[in-house]
Amino acid sequence: MSSYVITGAARGIGLEFVSQLSVDSSNSIFALVRSKSGATALQNLQRQNITVLEADITDVEALKVAANIVSEATGGKLDYLINNAAIHDHSKTTLDKFPTEDALDQDLLENFRVNTLGTIHTTNTFLPLLRAGTTKKAITISTGGADPDFNAKTGSAGQVGYMISKAALNMAVAKFAAALKREGFVFLSISPGLVDTATTERTAQESAEYKAFTQALAKIASPNFSGPLTPQESVKMMLEVIYRWTVEETGAFVSHYGNKEWL
Ligand SMILES: NC(=O)c1ccc[n+]([C@@H]2O[C@H](COP(=O)([O-])OP(=O)(O)OC[C@H]3O[C@@H](n4cnc5c(N)ncnc54)[C@H](OP(=O)(O)O)[C@@H]3O)[C@@H](O)[C@H]2O)c1
Repeated sequence: MSSYVITGAARGIGLEFVSQLSVDSSNSIFALVRSKSGATALQNLQRQNITVLEADITDVEALKVAANIVSEATGGKLDYLINNAAIHDHSKTTLDKFPTEDALDQDLLENFRVNTLGTIHTTNTFLPLLRAGTTKKAITISTGGADPDFNAKTGSAGQVGYMISKAALNMAVAKFAAALKREGFVFLSISPGLVDTATTERTAQESAEYKAFTQALAKIASPNFSGPLTPQESVKMMLEVIYRWTVEETGAFVSHYGNKEWL
């Protein structure tokens, strides 16, 4: 039996982590969402071992309230923290093309505030519970787009705030790992691959753009890439890597394959 806190659990990859992990009724799953009323798919899972808690990851007080509830339920312990929540826009604006300096600042600061700082605060808030547990795994969902070498290969010049904030997050994970390795913590940044998490039907134009995007990736990516993964496939692969990751490898940044093959 293990306990898990998953952020951004209302939809997409976070929801799928909850769905797969809650199949084992001996697991205790704490699903953090921004709004319980908006988390319909999560509520519909209707499993006894899922506790849905509200916390925006930029709200440290809300995170502390959630951590207290988890602590009361688990006797002060936590096995796995899965930092999944993030904002992600698909803006094509490149660093040299923002209309104003303020617009550039706003984009980068907002992504950094949520994706980097929000995740750091979440980790700090749940650290005492992880420390009291035996597994001590703090997992952060990153993106292959935050690997500069891969970025050079793809020539991706947009999504600047998102990818810069995730690259900073990878370094935050490495810093946590360096600080806490002696205590037996396992920190890991893991990219889920390209995952189709759309919750609404795409317009014809959006479908055409997504298809063109994946076809472009297929040309430059590894021979394994045959299109986007489903959330089910991605989470299954990530869990295999998460379970086998050891303290000796703490602080790494890997893909759903457990290496640097991002697609
Ligand atoms: N999908 C991909 O292909 C892909 C590729 C690389 C990396 N990733 C990473 O994988 C993770 C999940 O991606 P996804 O595609 O499942 O994303 P998604 O469908 O956009 O879901 C993101 C989740 O994060 C939550 N969230 C956003 N801001 C938050 C905040 N301030 N506080 C708390 N929760 C917040 C959202 O809450 P609401 O439901 O309330 O909006 C939502 O539940 C992200 O870290 C993303 O960067 C995804």
